[in-house]
Amino acid sequence: MNNRQEILRQLKESGDFVSGQQLCDLLGISRTAVWKNIEKLREEGYPIEAVTSRGYRLLPTEDSDLLNYEELAGRLHTKWVGHPLIYKAETGSTNNDILALSDQGSPEGTLVVASRQTAGKGRRGRAWISPSEGNIYMSILLRPQMKADIVSMVTLIMALSVYQAALELEAAEGVDCRFGIKWPNDIVASVNGGSYRKLCGILTEMRMEEMDIRDVVIGTGLNVNEKHFSKEIQETATSFCLALGHDVNRALLTARTWDYFEEDYDKFRKAQSLSPLKDIYESGLVNRGRLVRVLDPRTPFTGTAEGITDTGELIVRPQDGSEEKFVRTGEVSVRGVMGYV
Ligand code: BTN
Repeated sequence: MNNRQEILRQLKESGDFVSGQQLCDLLGISRTAVWKNIEKLREEGYPIEAVTSRGYRLLPTEDSDLLNYEELAGRLHTKWVGHPLIYKAETGSTNNDILALSDQGSPEGTLVVASRQTAGKGRRGRAWISPSEGNIYMSILLRPQMKADIVSMVTLIMALSVYQAALELEAAEGVDCRFGIKWPNDIVASVNGGSYRKLCGILTEMRMEEMDIRDVVIGTGLNVNEKHFSKEIQETATSFCLALGHDVNRALLTARTWDYFEEDYDKFRKAQSLSPLKDIYESGLVNRGRLVRVLDPRTPFTGTAEGITDTGELIVRPQDGSEEKFVRTGEVSVRGVMGYV
């Protein structure tokens, strides 16, 4: 814990004034250093009152959704994920940040979290609009010592982690919110029986060194407390806040997602497949039992999605009665016949 985090912890625990001298003695730093840390905390959004001869006091705040290094680090309970953790109020793309950090030798587990992106990247070369309206943009660095075809599996694990963290959130009274996974890696929500809408997207990038994986970046964008969407995505997008009927603490949602990710990824690494995670993934798979259109450019077909294989392919039973097919991520798109899912 650094000095800033320790000062914040003291203020939170006390709930009252803590004298500057007390903080100096505790941390072994000067009054100027304490004051500089207080200023930094204020910049991060903490309302801290300073009163001569009484000290500093953290005021109660309406806004319980501060996203910054302190709030994230204080909630992460992981062993290797988020070590190091980097928080940025604004960046171009957290995926690009990770690629650069990887080039500088940053270790596996390096995590970048941002509140806003100016050049967010989506799948299929699209942009990921990343306003600072209470969302989360984050990317992790992995250096898997496995074959290149595992990349689609790590993407599924990321989706599963967000899904599991989402299940811990309670909806407001009278709101029936169902979260799910749209294969392979969109997290979706349906409210009071309405159609599923997307609230999280994942972009995984892999770089190779001859036949070996050099690094893998998984980038996740979550619509958390955003309430208005641009025209293009208005009909298909939602946010955790709109789905649940209340604002969500982003630092907590982020930390819980990575707790799950670390646990699930370690299971996957041991098994070298998704077999230990298949049941829980399928329990959230909203395509399951539904008609899907597999948009294979050569032979598109319609069938019923039945589940996933141990390596993450979607199992689809074609409507024409032919043998079940295994659809690989990245190769084809899958659309719901009755809508987005
Ligand atoms: C999609 O198109 O569904 C995937 C969107 C992925 C967006 C995230 S936001 C954090 C990370 N940084 C990026 O530039 N993109 C990913």
